[in-house]
Amino acid sequence: MKKTVLFVDDEEMVLQGLQRSMRAMRNDWDMTFVDSGAKALAFLEKTPVDVVVSDMRMPGMNGAQLFAEVAKRFPKSVRLILSGHADQELILQCVGSTHQFLSKPCDPEALRATVRRAMELEGSVKNAHLQQLVARMDHLPSVPSLYSEIIEKMNDPEAALEDVGVIIAKDPGMTAKILKLVNSAFFGLRREVSNPTDAVSFLGLDTIKSLVLSLNAFSQYESVKTDGFSLSALWNHSLSTAAAAKRIAQLEKADLKIVDQAFVAGLLHDAGKTVLAFNFPDQYGKTIQAAQAQGADPLGAEHEAFGANHADVGGYLLGLWGLPVPVVDAIALHHQPKHSADAAFTPLTAVHAANALVKAEGGTLPAWDSDYLCRLSLGDHATVWQKELCAGTITTN
Ligand SMILES: [Fe+2]
Ligand SMILES: [Fe+2]
Repeated sequence: MKKTVLFVDDEEMVLQGLQRSMRAMRNDWDMTFVDSGAKALAFLEKTPVDVVVSDMRMPGMNGAQLFAEVAKRFPKSVRLILSGHADQELILQCVGSTHQFLSKPCDPEALRATVRRAMELEGSVKNAHLQQLVARMDHLPSVPSLYSEIIEKMNDPEAALEDVGVIIAKDPGMTAKILKLVNSAFFGLRREVSNPTDAVSFLGLDTIKSLVLSLNAFSQYESVKTDGFSLSALWNHSLSTAAAAKRIAQLEKADLKIVDQAFVAGLLHDAGKTVLAFNFPDQYGKTIQAAQAQGADPLGAEHEAFGANHADVGGYLLGLWGLPVPVVDAIALHHQPKHSADAAFTPLTAVHAANALVKAEGGTLPAWDSDYLCRLSLGDHATVWQKELCAGTITTN
């Protein structure tokens, strides 16, 4: 069956341009182009679509208002917004209802690739239970606009570290969280960091970017109240896993890119748990507590209760955010790395091993998949990682 895409833009010229640049996809996608939010909603009423791409600034109903409605009435559609530099305030309004932000003018190839990726993700999740589960959720996490702004700045060759500091400083809540974390023992910095620009220069742009993403993902669920589930314990576990995954990737002398991806995947590897706990507090709490009481495998219990486990949910949702494929794979497969087709070290390897090491207490053997590590010829390396990480406190430097 052909995938369906709905494009919404009030400017006739832009719509025509989109029509032209998307022509190459007409054999694969059924595309509809409308010039207002009202028309988009009327169309969706009759024909649900896989992906909606909308302009931000439109008379009558703007992109933020449109996506708030689409999120409520057609939650299965992936929502991508095209916004310009002047749209900061509107961006903030649609943080909760938009899956990805693309900056305008958008290169047609980048737009095609983003839409394609969003569709592949829909298709790759064959698990009908997972799709139903996600459709039942009222509170899907969305990618923070601050993160999109930082990415955009980082792509600008003229941008300086101060510019990123200024972007972060615009969000006092995020600034406070970053400074608190940067000054905590976790990063082991020798001097007090008191502003976002210093934080960026101490930790590096990639780490800051990952922190913004993860702190936001977690803070969307700050009010979560589920018996048997602690958000702060999960955040601490995620930080330790991220640091260990980064260290393992460094020990493997992996590319800088893989090291960074291992860090961000480590931070977000259990994000699916928060999503489940927030959307289904009673059911999730009971499931986890029952598994603990019976000494049962919590992953199996999640699957039985929801038709998918937290890794499936996290991978699916972070894929919607447009995170790089290796990061999404690391999150989705962190408990079952053997399902990965990769034959070499990837962020998945780092996160799988890091998670097992962080969980292994008091010198117990980490519950990692030795067959998988041996398949990658990393059986001996795992012993080195264990020694190295148990020897000292894990820091991210
Ligand atoms: Fe996990
Ligand atoms: Fe974990």
